[in-house]
Amino acid sequence: MTMETMTAREAPQGKPLPWVGHLLHVAHHGMWDFLAKEQRERGDYFRLTLGPRQMFVIAHPDGIERVLGTNRDNYIKKTSYDSMRLLTGDGLLTLEGDTWRTRRRMANPAFHRESVRRFVRSISGISQEALAAWRWRIPNGGTLDLHHEMMLLTLEVVAETLFGQRMGEAAGDTSGRAFAEALKVLSDRGNTGVRLPLHIPTPGNLRFRRILQTLDTEVYRILDAARKETEPRAVPTLVHMLLQARDEDTGQGLTDRELRNELMTLFLAGHETTALLLTWLFTLLSRSPQVVERAEAEVDAVLGNREPTADDVPKLVYLRQIIDEALRLRPPAWSIARDTVADDVIGGFHVRAGDLVLPAIYLVQRHPAFWPHPERFDPDRFAPDRAKSRHHYAYLPFSLGPRICIGNIFALTEATVMLATLLQHTRISMDAPDAVRIQAGITLRPAGPVPVRVRWRRSRAQA
Ligand code: HEM
Repeated sequence: MTMETMTAREAPQGKPLPWVGHLLHVAHHGMWDFLAKEQRERGDYFRLTLGPRQMFVIAHPDGIERVLGTNRDNYIKKTSYDSMRLLTGDGLLTLEGDTWRTRRRMANPAFHRESVRRFVRSISGISQEALAAWRWRIPNGGTLDLHHEMMLLTLEVVAETLFGQRMGEAAGDTSGRAFAEALKVLSDRGNTGVRLPLHIPTPGNLRFRRILQTLDTEVYRILDAARKETEPRAVPTLVHMLLQARDEDTGQGLTDRELRNELMTLFLAGHETTALLLTWLFTLLSRSPQVVERAEAEVDAVLGNREPTADDVPKLVYLRQIIDEALRLRPPAWSIARDTVADDVIGGFHVRAGDLVLPAIYLVQRHPAFWPHPERFDPDRFAPDRAKSRHHYAYLPFSLGPRICIGNIFALTEATVMLATLLQHTRISMDAPDAVRIQAGITLRPAGPVPVRVRWRRSRAQA
């Protein structure tokens, strides 16, 4: 027994109710507010009882470093990813150990900076098409649901850049809604602690099975189409790379089920989070007219009237700061979850084998010891010279360590190009930004539609 283990204490927790623990508290406050309240009252490490599960919540960068860095082999994706497995099966996001390592190596090249540079033309083209459609649909000053529109856009980007195929409006709409519903069902399962196996025909399970069928049909259609291509592509997309990949030892390719799982993973992980980033970003911008003015000035200076290219992305420095700050205040992946393998001590508190550990990204990213005036939306925090003095684990919207988001360069590039295009052509405002409520389920989503008003900055002729 080490000295650290001997002196370790039990992490504090509010009094749990019999059977349900803190489930009713979470239902009453919502996860987002409840965890923030617990941190204020109990400190940076505390426990939570959700039904039968014991959780250890971490709101300090040192503790997060232990889980994702120094002792990371002790914290794995086991039951913590059971809900997600119902949708994606075993894929890059949910796999562990050697299988994960091999799969990650296979997928990495599609996400390198050079590959992502090639996606810029598609991202820009899809954004321009969306704007053209908006011009037809809505008058100057008219409204649309930004969250819904961003989901359609990012889904189309994943389909074209990673799978080499367009979804089209109808399939995009159906799949977008199916993904949104699937995530809602999975979040509800997580929040109630009641997880009946999928084969039991509860109304929720039946709904989920129907959604899975819709999504499977789309994923297998994409795989089929990629298989049937007779001409090799000059630049193979990720789906082509996965189809051709062979195990170094056995020479075996991925099975249909494994391919389906990877496509489902990338579809899901690749569109929802980026759509949420852009949606939340505009709720923050709508309260900060000076930030918008500065951003528009940068876009006008760098781009003028032309479409953004890959070379423009690093020049849009202030836009990137806005994106970084939006990811701080509204991280789409608001927390990570891991299963503890063996007993450990974090921040002087016991963590036991089997505990679910929650490195709470959003709490650490607004921790007052690391972020002055944490609630203030201030993109200048991310001015290039200011990042150096920060604790490395105080900012991790894409996680850190070997399991860092594979799509982080992709997402940041996509968000920059889309934001630049939107700012170049429109002024997006919200009549009631505070009315958009935060719902922290599997991801951080708005509780309902996000109506925004769109005014055109450039006439159709200029566009
Ligand atoms: C703003 C957008 C995004 C955010 C905030 C985000 C966040 C994250 C986070 C926090 C993780 C770690 C999860 C964990 O370990 O528990 C992750 C993993 C992952 N993300 Fe993203 N992500 C974004 C965009 C994307 C995109 C665009 C793609 C693909 C096109 C993608 C694909 C993945 C995959 C496959 C993993 C699992 C990686 C692994 O474990 O090897 N993400 N993401």
